[in-house]
Amino acid sequence: KVQPVILCGGSGTRLWPLSREQYPKQLLQLAGERSMLQETVLRIADLARLLPVSPTPIVVCNEEYRFITAEQLRECGYPCGDILLEPFGRNTAPALTLAALAALAYEDDALLLVMPADHLIRDGAAFARAVAAGAPAAEVGDVVTFGIQPTRVETGYGYLRIGAVDASGTFPVEAFVEKPDQQTAARYVADGNHLWNSGIFLLRASVWLHAIERFAPSILLACKDAFAAAVRDADFVRVERTSFEGCPADSVDYAVMEHLPGAANPGVGIRAVPMAAGWSDVGAWDALWDVSDKDGQDNVVRGDVLTEGVRSSMVVATDRLVACVGVSDLVVVETADAVLVAGKDATQGIKDVVARLKREG
Ligand code: GDD
Ligand code: MG
Repeated sequence: KVQPVILCGGSGTRLWPLSREQYPKQLLQLAGERSMLQETVLRIADLARLLPVSPTPIVVCNEEYRFITAEQLRECGYPCGDILLEPFGRNTAPALTLAALAALAYEDDALLLVMPADHLIRDGAAFARAVAAGAPAAEVGDVVTFGIQPTRVETGYGYLRIGAVDASGTFPVEAFVEKPDQQTAARYVADGNHLWNSGIFLLRASVWLHAIERFAPSILLACKDAFAAAVRDADFVRVERTSFEGCPADSVDYAVMEHLPGAANPGVGIRAVPMAAGWSDVGAWDALWDVSDKDGQDNVVRGDVLTEGVRSSMVVATDRLVACVGVSDLVVVETADAVLVAGKDATQGIKDVVARLKREG
């Protein structure tokens, strides 16, 4: 049985000023009527047509967002399982460890389908087919990743170096490199042997726990203590604060995935299933512009916006009327207390602005 695990704790600083610490990216309705969290939950239905899937996803999120998260899950009309609450973010490796411990407490060694809540996937059926294709390998104890054909040099992703396809249609992953520098990423994109890591994984709960024990034992120890002392409060499971405080912060990718491929790690294989499902992680404004429906001048506009002679831009108004005249390739985002004006190809720099705001108060 597949147990969906939804990781929902990031903050998405590159979508500032719309995404904030108080209101992270996955809870925003960025591309349509539903938030990315809701899109993620609803995607599970496509999969349930192909594989036996637990009807109740495990959601891991920050305590601070528990009400809005629960509310959004209810709105989906999908029965939700436990919502594990972290008192603070310790990145994805601890979050997944908590989910694996919870999954093992419910039933025998389920296949965890790890789904970040901050992606858009246009073709749910193709997503489901890819997951189903990876299931046999995951059943026998491999870690299955889902790879995206790169379309640009991107340093914000992980890269999978893949070998020759086998009869099952999956590829061995020969190397996993998280967030390479610009030069390395350019080489990977050019050589044709690399896929982007989508951040979606399929693996047995026990396989994850063994891997984290091997590569980051202090994360496992802290999470075990924090989970054992967790307090249940209706659907919420509050992870114990003091033990979790001592947990090192690290991502699934750095803590485990980078170490898995190769001879150094006999026993566990890491495989990739290519996924052509209209995936986008909408990490920044230009990516959102990319995946959104555009008007005749290639603009994406939201809210009370007037454009005159504007091309290829993204203009978002949440509080006031915004008028743009005679500009192109701009991102303009207006909110009640902050306005962003950025070049569309410079939006990765927004996280530096957010970092400065944090430092300078
Ligand atoms: N519960 C919880 N707690 N969730 C978290 C935490 C946390 O502390 N930190 C992050 N998340 C959630 C985010 O909300 C997001 O849905 C997911 O975990 C991935 O975290 P990101 O912080 O967005 O990771 P990333 O985008 O830098 O990198 C990952 O995704 C890329 C594709 O989008 C990696 O897996 C890369 O290899 C991958 O290419
Ligand atoms: Mg992300």
